Amino acid sequence: MRTKLVAGNWKMHGSLAENEALLRTLLESREASGAVRWVVCVPFPYLAQVQSLLSGSAVAWGAQNASEHAKGAFTGEVSVAMLGEFGCRYVIVGHSERRVLYREGDAQVAAKFKAVKDGGLTPILCVGESLAQREAGRTNEVVGEQLRAVLESAGNDALADAVLAYEPVWAIGTGRSASPGQAQEVHGWLREQVARAAGEDAAARLPILYGGSVKAANAAELFAQPDIDGGLIGGASLIVDDFLAICRAADQ
Ligand code: PGA
Repeated sequence: MRTKLVAGNWKMHGSLAENEALLRTLLESREASGAVRWVVCVPFPYLAQVQSLLSGSAVAWGAQNASEHAKGAFTGEVSVAMLGEFGCRYVIVGHSERRVLYREGDAQVAAKFKAVKDGGLTPILCVGESLAQREAGRTNEVVGEQLRAVLESAGNDALADAVLAYEPVWAIGTGRSASPGQAQEVHGWLREQVARAAGEDAAARLPILYGGSVKAANAAELFAQPDIDGGLIGGASLIVDDFLAICRAADQ
């Protein structure tokens, strides 16, 4: 019922030359692949390059952030409409690096989510707990609150045509992934919350990605869990063979 999706989050990495090599390899390898959706979320300045290389291919692209405002005096910000002009289909919203380093709170994340939806793009909404919150037994409370803030502001139907990503903060960039069992537990719980808010159908259709130290070596086991529908991949998305191996793991 759900198509698997693997999205690379390049973060603040890349150069015109490196991107071109990586994207060309992805394009060459894409032909043989099955139904998994491949996405790269790249830094803003590279959107034009990505658009010109990937247009007409089966690899989609997106941004890592967007302003909640449509236009105006917001120096340094980028609107959803601008992203749309460069062919973006996806926008990561509420990544923990934005929440922690740039102090994006639940209300701002919800506003960004709504702006992305209103602009006709697909938000990839990230939720996740810190290590201290997990150790205090607060994981469900924290991710539940992050989800609730978005549903309250954008409405219970907001998750139709959206993607949710569970990214435990302690697993991001640390090499320490959640175990398949730990991740499945949270994914299953999140899907139950969506079912309560928006109905069983909406919950069954929603792709929920896992993110946090996904590698070629652990992807298959994670993606085999019933409520894990693919991954949001940071570090390993910059190494083309690793990213391809992860995309293939989602196709099994
Ligand atoms: P990581 O990052 O794969 O490098 O842990 C994931 C993310 O931040 O989306």
